[in-house]
Amino acid sequence: MYIGYLVPDAIDGGVLVGDSVSEKLVRYTDLFFEKHGHRPLAYVYSYGCQQNVSDGEKLKGQLSLIGYEFTDDTEQADLIILNTCAVRENAENTVYGAVGGLKHLKERKPELIIGICGCMAQLEHVAQKIRASYRQVDLVFGTFAYGDLYKMLYDIIYNKKRIFNLSENNTDINESFYQVRDSKIKAFVPIMYGCNNFCTYCIVPYVRGRERSREPQSVIEEVRKLVEDGYKEIMLLGQNVNSYSYGFPELLKSIDSIDGDFRIRFMSSHPKDASKELIDTIIESRHICKHLHLPFQAGSDRVLKAMNRRYTIDDYLKIVDYARSKRQGFSFTTDIIVGFPGESYEEFCQTKSVIKRVGFDNIYSFVYSKRSGTPAAELEDNTDDKTKGRWLRELLLEQRENIMTLFSRFIGKDVRVLVEGRGRQMQLTGKNDENIIVEFDGDESIIGEFVNVRIEKTANWALFGTITKE
Ligand code: 5AD
Ligand code: SF4
Repeated sequence: MYIGYLVPDAIDGGVLVGDSVSEKLVRYTDLFFEKHGHRPLAYVYSYGCQQNVSDGEKLKGQLSLIGYEFTDDTEQADLIILNTCAVRENAENTVYGAVGGLKHLKERKPELIIGICGCMAQLEHVAQKIRASYRQVDLVFGTFAYGDLYKMLYDIIYNKKRIFNLSENNTDINESFYQVRDSKIKAFVPIMYGCNNFCTYCIVPYVRGRERSREPQSVIEEVRKLVEDGYKEIMLLGQNVNSYSYGFPELLKSIDSIDGDFRIRFMSSHPKDASKELIDTIIESRHICKHLHLPFQAGSDRVLKAMNRRYTIDDYLKIVDYARSKRQGFSFTTDIIVGFPGESYEEFCQTKSVIKRVGFDNIYSFVYSKRSGTPAAELEDNTDDKTKGRWLRELLLEQRENIMTLFSRFIGKDVRVLVEGRGRQMQLTGKNDENIIVEFDGDESIIGEFVNVRIEKTANWALFGTITKE
């Protein structure tokens, strides 16, 4: 066994010890090294949300433990895993396009292993389509099968099998997955998996199952370790963090009590569960950004009801007003769906009114995408996609007008920025507490640190300024 390659933590966690499948895979990558002069290279690409990126980091962690290294070039890869998203149809089409493009690569390189996993792969009809029409794919596994990765790889490599693993049995949370994180500055920390809300347009509850929360102690320890390792931003993840079983404000308070130079973000929150206690916890905290990503989805109460969102716009605005009564300038961002089946133009205009009334620092807006198997897919829809596209542009235009006024509140002020990399217009870029892009000049050696930037100028996508204090 090629122990030298293993990460000590993972051995402590018992991932590899005494596990013969993984030992054989370690031997496989050793032999590969002897034969080719390099370790087998894995290309792992995650589409979609941060939860998916986090799953991808766990896959990479498992692969690294058995001796894989990584590439971002599919041409060089010996193993390609596309970790997919099913939230909207175009995300699915992108994946089909990408897999289609790999056909020739597989013909040239028959030993190449191609896998598709994640939300889209969990859907029966997708798996069937891949089985029938994408012969180049060796491995399809859903969101419950990450823990079977070694066994699946083993069966492909040694038993020449083609694997379809859509099992929904393993809903236990595996706390011992080693992760190869994409960033050294920002870390994703899932606190719960799945969703119980069944918004009528959404496929997530069908592909990620019911809510399961991680033990608070395990989350707190993970964050403590990340902060010790120098991570500056911790992003807590869940489809609806407010229904974390052990109490979300309590968890936030415990994480906030960790000493160190770091900030905490989290997403997503569901308005039906966003409480005053949550807002108070954010405002009174040391590390939590004074910002809430709170998707309202639609501005009409009738549409919200049809979406099964279980709040009214009045409820939503009460949260916003409460937060701002306690702290002026408390920042909100949101998700919006345009053109839910049956939404009229007048109802869509109510969505525009809400964005004007609230003043969001950013909106993530999408044209409704029909997901078969969801209740909304059965609803009559008389508005064509072209019209919906026009509504979306109207919404973005409205937001663009709002944003200039909103961003002007920063002019002349100092904001705290985590420096993330090279900028588009100035030397460096980062985000402030409100999650707004800030650009400024400075030396690359400060990437990964917090700086204060005095804002001088704004555009509709960013703030620009000068460092006042490092
Ligand atoms: N069509 C369009 N947007 C969707 N979302 C979820 N499902 C759909 C769908 N079927 C959006 C919601 C959600 C975000 C992650 O994706 O706005 O908050
Ligand atoms: Fe989908 Fe609603 Fe669950 Fe979010 S809360 S994942 S939109 S069902």
